Amino acid sequence: MDLIRIKIDGRDVEVPAGTTVLEAAEQAGIHIPRLCHDPELSRFGACRLCVVEIEGMRNLPASCVTAVASGMVVWTESPPVTEARKTILELLMANHPQDCLTCEKMGDCRLADYCYRYGVKEIPYKGKTHAYGVEEDNPFIVRDADKCILCGKCVRACAEITGKDNLDFAYRGFDTKVATFGDSPLLESDCVFCGSCVAVCPTGALMEKQMQGRARRYELKRVKTTCPFCGTGCNFELCVKEGKIMGVTTKSGGAVNGRSLCIKGRFGWDFVYSEKRLDTPYIKKNGKMEPATWDEALNVIAGRLGEIKQKYGPGAFAALSSARCTNEENYLVQKLVRVVMGTNNVDHCART
Ligand code: FES
Repeated sequence: MDLIRIKIDGRDVEVPAGTTVLEAAEQAGIHIPRLCHDPELSRFGACRLCVVEIEGMRNLPASCVTAVASGMVVWTESPPVTEARKTILELLMANHPQDCLTCEKMGDCRLADYCYRYGVKEIPYKGKTHAYGVEEDNPFIVRDADKCILCGKCVRACAEITGKDNLDFAYRGFDTKVATFGDSPLLESDCVFCGSCVAVCPTGALMEKQMQGRARRYELKRVKTTCPFCGTGCNFELCVKEGKIMGVTTKSGGAVNGRSLCIKGRFGWDFVYSEKRLDTPYIKKNGKMEPATWDEALNVIAGRLGEIKQKYGPGAFAALSSARCTNEENYLVQKLVRVVMGTNNVDHCART
């Protein structure tokens, strides 16, 4: 593998050919601001916030789409770079609702973070702004196109992570917006509500509906866990406030699934608080389900299984296990079937 040696902010960095300047800086522990770049998505170069100064180059190239070249000398926070970033942010904010005080994304908004970092307070550019309004007629995703900065991460996530291609840029010039085919609401589109677009959105343009009005992002404790819905074992973070689940979020680089989840994993967690959940075993007595203790229930099960085995032989028994059980539980099912019931008639719903 060809290694390229460059200098970033005075530090020597050696990276494989083809690495971008942004990735090389990351390797050297230098964070270059970015809004449209995402390691799990294709390179796009839309927001230009990642501009850097490269000695010998006239312009400030976007580091996320500029490959390293031998002997490059890069400055990531020189005065021309910080001035350019401030201007880029001012331009983005010029067409932004600036309702940060009541925005659900406050505390977790990349745009706000970078405005703070580069001291964007006054917006010198006054002019026409959009007033698309908020789309919230579906149970899962709130879309606020007025807060969209056209970074295209949702478009790429839908195409490259979910494989749906349900979103794209529509219209032209100032009127450009991210839209579904025919600019229809998500409910009338091909959206599968996996929420990958929400997971990558750097602003409040795409938000989880279930989390609206329930907590500031900085109040949430993130608890890493494994999805209980199927055997894939996707990872995500439960967002918890005062011991209650407020929502599910995913992070780049998560084991198994990266940031992608299906609709059940991302939005189906509310079953946890369902009043219909069983809180005790039940035994059918005289055709009616009666609450019982675990000892009573286990005694009935052991007795009935023993009767079947004695009367009809081990081959009369079979067990089908579930992908919603843990590996340990599935192991115990096959152990019970083989050792206690004496048969190999055991299968698993996810095997096919
Ligand atoms: Fe490089 Fe947006 S992060 S152009």
